[in-house]
Amino acid sequence: MTIHNLGDENSILNQFISEIRDSQIQKDSMRFRRNIERIGEVLGYEFSKALLYNSKNVETPLGVKSMDLIQDQVVICSILRAGLPLHQGLLNYFDTAENGFISAFRKHEGDEDDFEVIVNYFAAPSLEGKVLVLTDPMLATGRTLENVLEGLKKHGTPKQIHIVSVIGSQQGIEFVESVFPAQTHLWIAAIDPELNARGYILPGIGDAGDLAYGQK
Ligand code: URA
Repeated sequence: MTIHNLGDENSILNQFISEIRDSQIQKDSMRFRRNIERIGEVLGYEFSKALLYNSKNVETPLGVKSMDLIQDQVVICSILRAGLPLHQGLLNYFDTAENGFISAFRKHEGDEDDFEVIVNYFAAPSLEGKVLVLTDPMLATGRTLENVLEGLKKHGTPKQIHIVSVIGSQQGIEFVESVFPAQTHLWIAAIDPELNARGYILPGIGDAGDLAYGQK
């Protein structure tokens, strides 16, 4: 897997990451969603550099200019519900992309820290020969992505897989690397060192779904 850790670069992306981490700024859920969306836009722009382009003559009112237009068919698949603002950020740029949605949740037995990932809803178009963009804002253990990849197999074989994530744990990224095809790309805005016993990223941001849409 090729890991593109964009938070390592000097850019405005770190401003957005800092705001989503800040527990005071997090209180404004509209700002939180918009910041995740803005991160999706930045990561989408970076990932666009890995796509295939075709030259096409474009007529302006005053002449003709050869321009490179995206040739790949992009399918953005997101995990409900925390993936929605990230999905929107990507869709703002890839406005002709197809869309897929997957519902996945962690099922804890009582107070136990360990959990099972339950995937119970898949709505995705054919992925055959297309570029699959899989969003997961918080790449914590990587087990959700593993389950989602398994479930998407019946939708065909994509030509490329790009995972777009906001924050990942070192451990989760290593796990994803072990279960995804070697040609997969990961576009991520920050990598944190640890997970807590309940599988939350430390220092992370807390629960991304709750921050965006309120507590369950
Ligand atoms: N999901 C979240 O929302 N936050 C984490 O830290 C891990 C998973």
